[in-house]
Amino acid sequence: MRKKIVAGNWKMNMHDIDVIQYLKELDELSSTIPTDVEVVVFPPAIYLDMVTNLTDYELKSGAQDCSANENGAYTGEISASMLASMDNEEETKRLTYCLVGHSERRQYHNEMNELLASKVNQLLASKLMPVYCCGESKEERESNNQEKVVKSQITKGLFHLPKEKFSNVVIAYEPVWAIGTGLTATSEQAQEMHAYIRSLIEEQYDVETANSTSILYGGSCKPSNAKELFAQPDIDGGLIGGASLKPDSFIEITKAFN
Ligand code: PGA
Repeated sequence: MRKKIVAGNWKMNMHDIDVIQYLKELDELSSTIPTDVEVVVFPPAIYLDMVTNLTDYELKSGAQDCSANENGAYTGEISASMLASMDNEEETKRLTYCLVGHSERRQYHNEMNELLASKVNQLLASKLMPVYCCGESKEERESNNQEKVVKSQITKGLFHLPKEKFSNVVIAYEPVWAIGTGLTATSEQAQEMHAYIRSLIEEQYDVETANSTSILYGGSCKPSNAKELFAQPDIDGGLIGGASLKPDSFIEITKAFN
């Protein structure tokens, strides 16, 4: 009943020539992608147009970030409505998502939960779906504070939303200590956190909302560990960094659901 999603976060990688090659390879492999999996890529914003328009495959796309403001004197920023206006197709809309609060934004740009709540509001007002990232640091896990940290991130960033709006949110649980480090959460650790997040949603809204929210795992997810992770009852897919930069390994991950 929940959407299965495999999403690639390209971060600040690739140039236009690489993007063209990537999309060509993805098109060639696309017939092997299971039809019940939604595949999304988050390229640097200047390549969104290419990613959204250059594949025959129904690839979904999203931005890696957006402004917390509607418009105005915010040099370097891109608003949610600008992103939304890049793809106005009603039926075949591809640019549908935006990451919010990736740990690299939290860490290097001091993005706090309150600011992220404004980004979420901007995106939903422009009919884009936030993929809200949360996750604890190594120190927070070592001091057994992972639930407390994630609860605070989700409560402050998302739980101001009424139920109808929350139903357009996807959550990505990404333990910071697993991102780009080669260390993956064990499937038990990941499942435990996903179930916990789902219980928070149930407490805040209701069981139906909790059961229909897609919660993705991120942090060194790759073809060799995706199967075990995706087999967990509360893991609905992945947000993939490094392993999404090559179409073959990325597409391999789309086949990891049972
Ligand atoms: P990684 O990145 O797969 O390279 O660990 C995941 C992410 O940052 O979203």
